[in-house]
Amino acid sequence: MEKKRIGVIFGGRSGEHEVSLLSAASVIRAIDKDKFDLFYIGITKDGRWMAVPQVFARDESGDRDITPEIIENGTWQNAATAVNPWDIKNHIDFALPIMHGPYCEDGRIQGLLEMLDIPYGGCGVLASAMAMDKAVSKEIFRQNGLPVCEYQLVTNVDIDKYKEGTIDKIEKAVGYPCFVKPANMGSSVGISKAANRRELEEALKLALHHDKRIVVEECIDCREIETGILGNENPEAAAVGEILPSAEFYDYNAKYCDGGASKLCIPADLPADVTEKIRQMAVKAYKSIDGEGFARVDFFIDKKTGKIYLNEINTIPGFTKFSMFPLLWEAAGVKYGETIERIIELGYERYYAKNNR
Ligand SMILES: Nc1ncnc2c1ncn2[C@@H]1O[C@H](COP(=O)(O)OP(=O)(O)O)[C@@H](O)[C@H]1O
Ligand SMILES: [Mg+2]
Repeated sequence: MEKKRIGVIFGGRSGEHEVSLLSAASVIRAIDKDKFDLFYIGITKDGRWMAVPQVFARDESGDRDITPEIIENGTWQNAATAVNPWDIKNHIDFALPIMHGPYCEDGRIQGLLEMLDIPYGGCGVLASAMAMDKAVSKEIFRQNGLPVCEYQLVTNVDIDKYKEGTIDKIEKAVGYPCFVKPANMGSSVGISKAANRRELEEALKLALHHDKRIVVEECIDCREIETGILGNENPEAAAVGEILPSAEFYDYNAKYCDGGASKLCIPADLPADVTEKIRQMAVKAYKSIDGEGFARVDFFIDKKTGKIYLNEINTIPGFTKFSMFPLLWEAAGVKYGETIERIIELGYERYYAKNNR
């Protein structure tokens, strides 16, 4: 059989551009080059699409493919040439977007790939968009009987025009301390914790730089528990893991910049029945947004009461060799490279199922 050409798409316009480069480089290293041909598509921070050729460097051992390296360190643009997004079907059979955040993980690029009739890995348009929006997803989870923390959605108009009333409303619904988040973001970008009215005002201002929809949540003194899902119609959950953040909360620094001081604990130290409940809730949450392909589902467990809250679904979770999602699958017996192949298979299954309907 002819080798399929897999287009790995990375970078992107979101605040998580750099994180995407790390994930994509790991994925590129791991894909079985005997089974697949690769085509590299980088999207710059200002949204330009570039084709990145394979780049070699000569050392003692001969020519060495350094494409993943230049992607990882952000110098890939020097080697790249412009590519028209509408033309990518000439170059690829299948797209693997490995990007996080708005324009990348929120259904926009998935919509473009649907328009181009290119099969792709991961969730479809609706699931991606719903999972990305922290207010919409919480609403859906609640309607499906899944427990979420107290929260209040406010918009830029609420804040700019009716500031006092809006803050009163937040205080009544959520209280202090609270977490203030742009509704559509990730990697903790724009998120802060507020202990009083002054801090809340600051936190809202910060979040408004990233989105016009802001979610304010009650603060849970929690353990952070996650599991991974793979599947289309019959999704399955991986092992369950815990994050032990190096900071007060799992902020951007703790996620990517603390040199590994944040720890992942796999499997999470939880009673078997709690682990099982988390896995079942994760599958239910994934189905509730019509998840396809893969996703990581994140929970909070209240340290005092043991109550479980569903926090969010990440439809394109971090994918480096040290990231939670692939490690949770390794713990469940699926190796890093196999996870990627499974995602490709699931993308094709969805594509053929849709075309044969
Ligand atoms: N309601 C909350 N209570 C306690 N901690 C929270 C709450 N919401 C978020 N956090 C902390 O902030 C981090 C990032 O929030 P999250 O909603 O997961 O956003 P992101 O999409 O950026 O990952 C979480 O991993 C957790 O450490
Ligand atoms: Mg998160």
